[in-house]
Amino acid sequence: MRERILILGGTSDLATELAHGLAKEGKDLIIGGRKTEELSRTSSDISIRYNVECEYLYFDAEDFDSHDDFFKNIKGPYPSSLFVVFGYLGDQIVAETQKEESFKIINRNFTGAVSIINSYLTQRGDNKINSIVGISSVAGDRGRMSNFIYGSSKAGFTAYLSGLRNKLFHENIHVMTVRPGFMDTKMTEGMDLPGPLTASAEKAARLIIKRWKKNRNNIYVLPIWRYIMLIIKNIPEAIFKRLKM
Ligand SMILES: NC(=O)c1ccc[n+]([C@@H]2O[C@H](COP(=O)([O-])OP(=O)(O)OC[C@H]3O[C@@H](n4cnc5c(N)ncnc54)[C@H](OP(=O)(O)O)[C@@H]3O)[C@@H](O)[C@H]2O)c1
Repeated sequence: MRERILILGGTSDLATELAHGLAKEGKDLIIGGRKTEELSRTSSDISIRYNVECEYLYFDAEDFDSHDDFFKNIKGPYPSSLFVVFGYLGDQIVAETQKEESFKIINRNFTGAVSIINSYLTQRGDNKINSIVGISSVAGDRGRMSNFIYGSSKAGFTAYLSGLRNKLFHENIHVMTVRPGFMDTKMTEGMDLPGPLTASAEKAARLIIKRWKKNRNNIYVLPIWRYIMLIIKNIPEAIFKRLKM
């Protein structure tokens, strides 16, 4: 039987490219997200193009109470792998004064991600799970003044994935954490991103799938980010707090 993979955040540029890449490898897919018309178009395109099954389901990361039912409503084989791709950058300045915006950032990037992964595991019954992939961020590696609410939500997600990897290793389930660095997507539209540090969604998806197949634990999409973050993480706090970044 073909492997069936669930991708959540299905309308994101990265998720769309991951769906194409995984379908090309012959995987059946379920894509979940809020914009079902867009998902329907992507799902038909993928099914026809790669001759795989690609279904779509409504999914809202912030509707925590619906997460168990999301899995109960899946028809056909339980997905053997889950890619958690959804995320929300939000507006740091607004979020510093308006709780609604800060809760959106935290709930979409952290609470919603934890909730749906927990549901994926608790609702699996006797079904075999192979892997969980979480898209986190380099912003979670060290808090910076420009985006520390987004960064702290991703830091929480990174720590959650680390502990989950440790726990699920003993059940032979692989967990991979992805820190993309900059990607040229809807999330970063209008931003002036440095070319050599920025990956297209298509390249990011290709590299993520390649390393997922090798069961890697922690990846930066472009390898240069590993060195950049090594430097950033090691700047002494007394200096770091003076920087405007
Ligand atoms: N682009 C970058 O430079 C960058 C860097 C580091 C990490 N990341 C991470 O990479 C991942 C993919 O992002 P992207 O760059 O491809 O951005 P994107 O195109 O803006 O995608 C964001 C996705 O998150 C979904 N989403 C937001 N709130 C949701 C909710 N409540 N329920 C369900 N889905 C929700 C959006 O769905 P709707 O279409 O319904 O809004 C959209 O599909 C995210 O986790 C992001 O944090 C991106």
